[in-house]
Amino acid sequence: MTTAAAHAKVIVTGEHAVVYGFGAVSVPVRSLACEVSIDPSPDGLTTFLADAFPGRYLAGAAQDHPLAFLEELLAWLLTEELPKWGVLLEQRPPLTISVRSQIPIGSGLGSSAAILVAATRGLFAHFGVHPPDREIQRLAHAAEMGVHGRSSGLDVATAVSDAPLYYTTGCPARVLNVGTPFHLLVSLSGLPSFTRKVVLDIRQQRERQPERIAAVFAEIGALSRQAAVAIEQGDLAALGDLMNRNHSLLTQLGVSCPELDRLVHAGNAAGALGSKLTGAGRGGCALALVDAGRLEAVRQALLDAGATDVYDLAVASRSVPAGAPSLQTAAP
Ligand code: MEV
Repeated sequence: MTTAAAHAKVIVTGEHAVVYGFGAVSVPVRSLACEVSIDPSPDGLTTFLADAFPGRYLAGAAQDHPLAFLEELLAWLLTEELPKWGVLLEQRPPLTISVRSQIPIGSGLGSSAAILVAATRGLFAHFGVHPPDREIQRLAHAAEMGVHGRSSGLDVATAVSDAPLYYTTGCPARVLNVGTPFHLLVSLSGLPSFTRKVVLDIRQQRERQPERIAAVFAEIGALSRQAAVAIEQGDLAALGDLMNRNHSLLTQLGVSCPELDRLVHAGNAAGALGSKLTGAGRGGCALALVDAGRLEAVRQALLDAGATDVYDLAVASRSVPAGAPSLQTAAP
């Protein structure tokens, strides 16, 4: 058996604008891991399994199955990408591909990016090839375009990083040194977020109202640059303000919803330094930047405001010791 891992992410500032070339700040969530294992199939049938879905998915069964994207990834890597690394196969070998993940699906935490990274790494490793992370990132990003229609590559870049990033599509991500370690409380709204649909909707808005959307994106891009500086300088008050501003710009784009607004307001009312939705929105998660002394009060306020779960993400330059994340790691 070959096993490979990747992890979740949160976007601190810059979602949506990052799809159109603006910078964004993200933080890896290494305590929420995803593992993909690859085995030769015992019955000659290529099969996909995931702990999140009952039963097994057989290659070719149904294109709308939630694991169908892994079948596309497998076919593409076997026919086009692995041969470039000297893996030339006369026939497609039947495989069993199993996903185990701690990352809630449709939560804005980068579940599909982490699965694509882990599956790409695992498939290469299964054939004895170990490309560098930047190549895994490139391939997983290309595959993610198929899943989300259009993608900045931020989720994939963060899924292979062990440090906070300032990211712009097409440029090497800049690792941020964290001036003062801080806590983000990640609260789950309990509503699913459909990245592909929300990204498409923003694209259509941009076609209808190019100037208005360009102005919002430019503001988000500017505040993401300031957020990167605030993180490096340890200016948490400034970072909190930027997160609040980012949330109101995302609200102008129409990607918040009453459940996320409730979490944002409850976190701030309980003493968070700033709050916003994170990820594509209209569901998924909110983030609150919280001083260590207020963690419990804010956590309780988020639960009272309807959060179905709250994770404490402690952020430092490289917050978790190097090494592959493990599903045995305690949840944050
Ligand atoms: C999704 O996690 C983040 C978005 O900005 C899409 C992307 O960056 O590809 C909404």
